[in-house]
Amino acid sequence: MSVTKLLKSKIRSLVDKINQHNYYYHTLDSPKIKDGEYDVLYSKLKEYEKNNPELILKDSPTQRIGSKLLGGFNKIKHEIPMLSLSNAANDNDFNEFYIKIKKDLNLENITLFAEPKFDGLAISVIYINGIFHSAVTRGDGEIGEDVTANVKTIKSLPLKLVGTNHPKKLRLRAEIYMTIADFKRLNKKLVAKGEKIFANPRNVAAGTIRQLDPLVSSERNLQIFFHGVMSTDGLKEKTHMDSLNKIKSYGLPVCKLNKLVVNIETAKDYYNYIIMIRDTLGYEIDGIVYKINDYDYQKMLGFTAKAPKWAIAYKFLSAEAVTTLTNVTFQVGRTGVITPVAELTPVNIGGVLVSRANLHNMDEVVKKDIRINDKVFVKRAGDVIPEIDRVLFKDRNKSTKIRIPSKCPSCSTKIVKITDQSSYKCPNEYNCLPQITQSIQHFASRKAMNISGLGESLIATLVNKEMIKNYSDLYTLDASLLITLERMGSKSSSNIIYSINKSKNISFDRFLYALGIREVGITTARVLALEFSNIDMLMNISKFQLESIKDIGPVVADNIYNFFKLMRNRNIITNLMERGINVIYENKDTTKEYYNQSFVITGTFKSFKRKEIEDIIIEKGGKISNSVSKNTHALIMGEKPGSKYQKALDLNIEIIKEGSLSKLL
Ligand code: IVH
Repeated sequence: MSVTKLLKSKIRSLVDKINQHNYYYHTLDSPKIKDGEYDVLYSKLKEYEKNNPELILKDSPTQRIGSKLLGGFNKIKHEIPMLSLSNAANDNDFNEFYIKIKKDLNLENITLFAEPKFDGLAISVIYINGIFHSAVTRGDGEIGEDVTANVKTIKSLPLKLVGTNHPKKLRLRAEIYMTIADFKRLNKKLVAKGEKIFANPRNVAAGTIRQLDPLVSSERNLQIFFHGVMSTDGLKEKTHMDSLNKIKSYGLPVCKLNKLVVNIETAKDYYNYIIMIRDTLGYEIDGIVYKINDYDYQKMLGFTAKAPKWAIAYKFLSAEAVTTLTNVTFQVGRTGVITPVAELTPVNIGGVLVSRANLHNMDEVVKKDIRINDKVFVKRAGDVIPEIDRVLFKDRNKSTKIRIPSKCPSCSTKIVKITDQSSYKCPNEYNCLPQITQSIQHFASRKAMNISGLGESLIATLVNKEMIKNYSDLYTLDASLLITLERMGSKSSSNIIYSINKSKNISFDRFLYALGIREVGITTARVLALEFSNIDMLMNISKFQLESIKDIGPVVADNIYNFFKLMRNRNIITNLMERGINVIYENKDTTKEYYNQSFVITGTFKSFKRKEIEDIIIEKGGKISNSVSKNTHALIMGEKPGSKYQKALDLNIEIIKEGSLSKLL
């Protein structure tokens, strides 16, 4: 066998092996090897691909994340329109559906296929000769958007189907969703970053699939369930169930709860069973879809303009109740963002007494035309925060419009609109009580300084009594002071002081995160900690230099720069150091070849992937930066370089062309 042939077959077998383990892990939820072993296989493949970029396979797991879609999404006409489903709201509607199809088909009994109705985003997916080809959103049913690049990042979606002899063109329907656990994790992260949270997992799925950067969707860990074969060409199966079993055997994720129900009674049993286990599923569903199983019968019934006549969605009664919106209060968050909160006449929804609901932002209030004194439908989906679904307009009587206050509800400073967003904020960040207490709370939180025992109300008391003004004052407290506070025993006082003292030795990234710089979450804090040798360097950096760091955009760079420019913040940091904070810096390896040298890459390369070049430079201790400056060590240039080339010439920066790259790397 020639060397290339041997390499090819090695790469093929590695790709197959890794894809197989992805399937065990992501689709079957039953891994067969340890994470470490998987990592070894993956790095081996990356190594082969790095050295032989021309041999990279289309279905290689390394190819899931593509580059940004600069021109937006292409509009695509569906070859087969993506219809909707008729709804049954109650038992009567469902009985009616069943009786009608029985009559139309002239049958005594009809076998239906029952499936959960996934609360996600509808998608059409095409495989050609067993290879993932494209994915298009439903859009208006006729024309959708090409979101192939984002759907490709879904780890349980096979890039190549299992087995052989696949239909030439397989058009499938699926639902993309996010698990409730991932949804909660994401919102927690957004709160920590002071960003707007998502209302429910469906909104995240829909928002994520329309992100222009596939990296975002790859990080969001979306999931997919396939629930239909849109055209049966190439598949010989005669029933819906057999088709789903077939595509399942191809490695496509199909829901395990699907079930054949042979008459109306078992259909209803299934409905009740799923309601019973709904809370344990880990993802949101909002009903049951019943489909006639036999394709011949489906054909006989056909479609209306909007939906098949052979299927129905029996929606769950959502956990909702009507109550009165008595008032709207405005809450101030850590970053000063002001959120409207609905105060309700307490009402029992699915066993939980609800007296407040999230109104998200003023846009939502205007869109739903919610007013004080309105009767409103309050919904509690799963265990997500209750929210107002809609107003009972026919009962509207003497209602008053909700107005955003002109002043901060806490400190009375004039509030301002956040540019480009539908939110408002109180700009008085250093003297507004909720902002101060929440910034201290953030500082003490688990991922930051990890000081336990410092709850919101204790912090507020300390601030109110002027025992502390900001987080650096935490290190001036002692147990004899704390014990003077109401409901504070000697044990808890000394525990808190112990925890405060313990936090003094802190890694650089956590320290940076704890400072609470706008939009500097733990990931950005890590990037900064890797980039800078110490806090002094970061405090004295120019905005331009910050912007040139990979992964730091202009807005974040601005936030960081502005934070450290303020004398107030500089003093707080000095205080922290004087009060015993010991920031532990990473042991940077100064012996590495490119230690602290900054490289810029431009143009396209024939035999290298940009990521490979970056990886090698970082491995050798260097840094990648987005723009050329006098601090740039060298510009690595491929074909069709951008304006960076001219800039490098102007600044007399060394230019390394592709030809001499292999020597360098
Ligand atoms: S079958 C021809 N099955 O619900 C229509 N749809 O309200 C075929 N949905 O747009 C749809 N789970 O995106 C089907 N198990 C399931 C489903 C499901 C969720 C979505 C679907 C549709 C919407 C209709």
